[in-house]
Amino acid sequence: MKHQTNATGKRHPQPTSWSAMSKSAYVVLFALLTVVSSQIVAAESASLLSVDINVRDTAALQRGVRTFNDYCLGCHGADYMRYKRIASDLNINEGQIEARLLPPGREMTDALKSSLQPEAAKQLFGAVPPNLSLSARARGADWLYTYMLTFYRDDSTASGWNNLTFPNAAMPHAMWDLQGVQELAQHAESTTATDTQAHGHADITAGLKLIEPGLQSPEDYRRTVKDLVTFMVYLSEPAQLQRSAMGPWVLLFLVLFTLLAWILKREYWRDVH
Ligand code: HEC
Repeated sequence: MKHQTNATGKRHPQPTSWSAMSKSAYVVLFALLTVVSSQIVAAESASLLSVDINVRDTAALQRGVRTFNDYCLGCHGADYMRYKRIASDLNINEGQIEARLLPPGREMTDALKSSLQPEAAKQLFGAVPPNLSLSARARGADWLYTYMLTFYRDDSTASGWNNLTFPNAAMPHAMWDLQGVQELAQHAESTTATDTQAHGHADITAGLKLIEPGLQSPEDYRRTVKDLVTFMVYLSEPAQLQRSAMGPWVLLFLVLFTLLAWILKREYWRDVH
């Protein structure tokens, strides 16, 4: 555009490219937008801890399935997963599964079902514990990880527990014997808010303090939760194990194919000028 019309209708000659002024104005505006939008994202995700999940870590999966079995399956099912598949995907032999995980009277081909009846659960907790097969996909690993770390004692709820990640959840703290008992820190609310401003991201657990130690140290408990979440991520999409094993071969194929296509193209165009 060579000319711009201003409000009075007069035409002012303008350089073809942006003037230095408007160019820097755009740069500033763009930078501002980037900062502002990243702030918004940071504020939204500020409360979640982040966890690095490696679903190919078989040892973590093996520890995770034990925790899941001991602490979650009492109330929740994972109805889309069968014991037999766990044995083969997690490199656990079927004898060990039978001895350690399989409830009496169940078969290797059975799904991971909870023995708790939905009606009984409703009476006990006021809510039916959902099937956890897909919850890592629905909520995400960070959410699950943070959820398991942010239970605290709260006498005003029916279960006596509350949760910073999922306020007023009907679920009691399943692993309190491992983590111990947490309580809201006195300054909890102000802490989270100012931490967000001061550090760009807040650690939600800063709002809680351990008032009674558990069987595990805080570091060990975090590892237990991480292994559990690793298992739940696998649970939500078991085929990803096979898929990620295939990944390098797919990449290799793509590289070779690209090379071949490039050589072919060069041959075809060799005599064209
Ligand atoms: C004593 C029973 C009980 C145990 C044990 C238990 N839960 Fe729960 N859980 C519940 C109930 C009840 C709810 C429903 C909470 C609500 O909707 O308010 C729930 C909800 C959840 C949710 C939220 C689902 C969603 O997306 O809304 C997740 C995730 C979860 N539980 C994971 C676990 C894990 C992992 C374990 C094992 C460490 C576990 N639970 C052990 C009873 C239990």
